[in-house]
Amino acid sequence: MSGKQAKLTVGDQSIDLPMYSGTLGPDVIDVKDVLAKGFFTYDPGFMATASCESKITFIDGDKGILLHRGYPIEQLATQSTYEEVCYLLLNGELPNQAQMQDFRHRIKNHTMVHEQLQFFYRGFRRDAHPMAVMCGVVGALSAFYHDSLDIRNPEHRQISAIRLIAKMPTIAAMCYKYSVGQPFVYPKNELDYSSNFLRMMFATPCDDYEVNPILARAMDRIFILHADHEQNASTSTVRMAGSTDANPFACIAAGIAALWGPSHGGANEAVLRMLSEIGTVKNVDDFVRRVKDKSDGTKLMGFGHRVYKNFDPRAKVMKQTCDEVLTALGIQDPQLELAMKLEEIALNDEYFISRKLYPNVDFYSGIILKAIGIPLNLFTVIFALGRTPGWIAHWQEMIANPYKIARPRQLYTGAVQRDYVSLQQR
Ligand code: ACO
Repeated sequence: MSGKQAKLTVGDQSIDLPMYSGTLGPDVIDVKDVLAKGFFTYDPGFMATASCESKITFIDGDKGILLHRGYPIEQLATQSTYEEVCYLLLNGELPNQAQMQDFRHRIKNHTMVHEQLQFFYRGFRRDAHPMAVMCGVVGALSAFYHDSLDIRNPEHRQISAIRLIAKMPTIAAMCYKYSVGQPFVYPKNELDYSSNFLRMMFATPCDDYEVNPILARAMDRIFILHADHEQNASTSTVRMAGSTDANPFACIAAGIAALWGPSHGGANEAVLRMLSEIGTVKNVDDFVRRVKDKSDGTKLMGFGHRVYKNFDPRAKVMKQTCDEVLTALGIQDPQLELAMKLEEIALNDEYFISRKLYPNVDFYSGIILKAIGIPLNLFTVIFALGRTPGWIAHWQEMIANPYKIARPRQLYTGAVQRDYVSLQQR
């Protein structure tokens, strides 16, 4: 409770509504009691609705703050590792050395997928979008791990969490290998998480792949920057699916499906497609004109965010990483120049300023992924891989606490009751 109370007046009725305070962020008004008075609340897109209580991630969109378990994303991205961030999200605290070693050991124990799983891939067309394949394969994991699907058992939940984090890089790399017709590469557990992923992506039975530490660090940072983001669309989807007591693999598959859309995780792919479409710096003005023309339906992909109305702190680190990686590799990517020009024009344009539209995490990630050698249609798969610990942490948090099945109501505006007329009489 916050000690404050809200009062809702509807006609001559007055409804007292309790209020709660978090440790950070706005107070919330508990609107449950309006149901007993015969009302629903109405908030399409959940613009002002706190759907749950959570201790995992905090965002202040006006100040551009993102904290995981209290730690600023800038510090985690530059000083931590992805595996450590996974531990933090799942357990609430940073691990000590023994805990970290144990966590790494457990992850390494589960990097391989069931040998049978490769036959799932073979059921897909080689030119299928890797997100379609990943969604199917992750959902199929529940068919392989019957031994640990009791969601009421904390040990089962824990082992499912470890399995998912450990297997996602293997599954993602297999999506790529399948699409290019190369043999799957087994994980090599002496490597760290991100190096292992890069090797599974780029090694072949004929040529081993020597991992470039700059690329491995960049990959790790990309995973960290995607690891969690509070109650976004895919995480809310995971929670919603989880609220029915569905198993964790099914819930994460639901999250992957929600992430795929270009308004969410699919934006990283859409940014590079947009840059290719623009072509050269001289076409930028014309493109921005189209974006501002509502009848054209063109959006500046990688710009705008439901919560960040100042800047996306992840975009800042991503841009810095982008510069570091391209400099270290000696790459001069004309698309980076194009992206910077686009950013400069947009940030000085009244249309974007008045709507508080700033670059989001996806604006720069694609350029780094391209430099690493990740193909365009795999970008969202990388996002899904990175977001997995966040999804699981939220699922775990929900299941470990009292919850109700998520069942929103609606403002019905369809036909009122009428009688059926038989086909012959219509
Ligand atoms: N380009 C042009 N105009 C935009 C953009 C954009 N990228 N984003 C928002 N706007 C405009 C809207 O048309 C609207 O204009 P209006 O007030 O004149 O009608 C105004 O800005 C407010 O936008 P909304 O759509 O109401 O904002 P909302 O919070 O619902 O949407 C979203 C946020 C979906 C991210 C949106 O900004 C968008 O589509 N961006 C491009 C896709 C993208 O980069 N997605 C990645 C998000 S981050 C992530 O998932 C990792």
